[in-house]
Amino acid sequence: MKTKESWGTRVGLVLAVAGNAVGLGNFLRFPAQASQNGGGAFIIPYLIAFLLMGFPLLYIEWAIGRHGGKSNHHSTPGMFDVLGKSRVLKYIGVFGLFSNLTIAAYYCYIESWTLSYVFHSIIGTFQQIAPTDFFPNYLGIHEASLFSLPKEAFFWFVLTLALNVWILSRGLVKGIELIAKIGMPLLILFGIILAIRGLSLDNSNPGVVQSPWIGLNFVWEPNFSGLTNPTTWLAAAGQIFFTLSLGMGSIHCYASYVKEKQDIALNASSAGWMNEFVEVLLGGSILIPIATAYLGLAAVQESTAGGSGFALGFLTLPTLFNNWGWFAPIAGAMWFGLLFFAGITSSMAMGQPLMAFMNDEYKISRQRSAILFGLATFLLGFICVWLYPGGSFDEFDFWTGTFSLVTFALLESLVFAYIFGIDKGWKEITDGADITVPNIFKFVIKYVTPIFILLVFVGAVIKPSTDWLTAINYLFSGKGWPFATDSVIGVIFHVGIDKYVWFENGEPTREFVKDATRVLLLLTFFGFSFLVYKAWKKKNSTKIRGAN
Ligand code: PHE
Repeated sequence: MKTKESWGTRVGLVLAVAGNAVGLGNFLRFPAQASQNGGGAFIIPYLIAFLLMGFPLLYIEWAIGRHGGKSNHHSTPGMFDVLGKSRVLKYIGVFGLFSNLTIAAYYCYIESWTLSYVFHSIIGTFQQIAPTDFFPNYLGIHEASLFSLPKEAFFWFVLTLALNVWILSRGLVKGIELIAKIGMPLLILFGIILAIRGLSLDNSNPGVVQSPWIGLNFVWEPNFSGLTNPTTWLAAAGQIFFTLSLGMGSIHCYASYVKEKQDIALNASSAGWMNEFVEVLLGGSILIPIATAYLGLAAVQESTAGGSGFALGFLTLPTLFNNWGWFAPIAGAMWFGLLFFAGITSSMAMGQPLMAFMNDEYKISRQRSAILFGLATFLLGFICVWLYPGGSFDEFDFWTGTFSLVTFALLESLVFAYIFGIDKGWKEITDGADITVPNIFKFVIKYVTPIFILLVFVGAVIKPSTDWLTAINYLFSGKGWPFATDSVIGVIFHVGIDKYVWFENGEPTREFVKDATRVLLLLTFFGFSFLVYKAWKKKNSTKIRGAN
């Protein structure tokens, strides 16, 4: 039998795990979410969510991962199967395959924009064409129809996927670890240079440039008003999930390659803190301060209304860099290079769990499984690229990058504390630990974290379009509950859409594209469930035959 694959060095492991967490979420999503939710008002719920939910979940996922690795499972269906006797458990693990593939599909698309923008920054495109014209064109939004394949974007998407497949096929040490060792230091270096350059902007003429510190203060200065606003809490918790790669099956997978008696407590903690460090310190001191200095706070807040950071990152920043003279192309290459490294070390972490599933449960070789991952991501990603103007991309982001994470995390926290059992779980977390994990976490994992996630789950399902007090008043005065357009119920029932039709003048509408995307996602989920079912059926029959 070939020896089990495991991480090469501790430094490599820590960098790979940090690379997994540190992603586009840190540099685009975090600043946008913070800005959208009132800057400093966001920070306190965000830090509390990190301590009471993010951190405990990291421990849970690392423990489930290393435990699964012992019985040679490196993807969540197998890991969950060995947590208890029930045959249902492995199907909970389907989430860990589903999320990784479906997130990879749209994530790799964003990653490909960053690669293309490195190229365009270097050749000086943005000095000739305004990014505000370039970007929509690049995405195919200018076209008259909802269906148009933007050729250049498609090319970069395929190239990005090919890069991912190539790296993944080289294996843990020669692929993932190596890229993390190159990418992580570079991204931190680029980040520091940009932050310093941005924060030292000359504001001697405040009519033109204001102090960049206004933006930094806005993000960092804690403000207690967010504490009483459930919507701020929801956004904060959502960001914690996304940025720490929680509820996705990705952390589990990386943890399963740690050797049996090796530490997980310190690994989990250092990766968690490192991610927060990069997110709050670096992520908070580039996009918002630079944009605020030139455009003012109000304009910045307005452009982050969607919460994605795309407008600031791909429209505003390259425009503003043009004020920096000869440094403009370099600043552009650094900013998008940083995003690219952040992106690729994360998208590899989405590929590995799927390859591990094919490897462990279907005995498919590494090269072939890397190619299969690439093909599957291509097929789903193609829908995101092609139907971006129709809203497919946003559907992917909502269902897979938001809803599915919370659902899986809720289930796994319950399974861990109550089916596997908190005592066994605690032993798994502390076994071989290089640090002492405070006992209080045992209590937190058993009671606080599941309740926290449950509240987030319910909050996301029924989020109101008004503030919560007004909504409760509405309800009691018999006017019903005003579901927000981005609450789960609101999204399912197309709340806020005046005219809900699939076809208009013989052309499919945005609503059609959205519904079709949902069907596709559901089918993907069932497809994975079927693959799990088949794999275990095969296993059981070989076991029975073996026993005879
Ligand atoms: N945590 C990554 C980010 O902040 C996203 C990610 C999702 C990584 C899923 C791995 C798996 O961008």
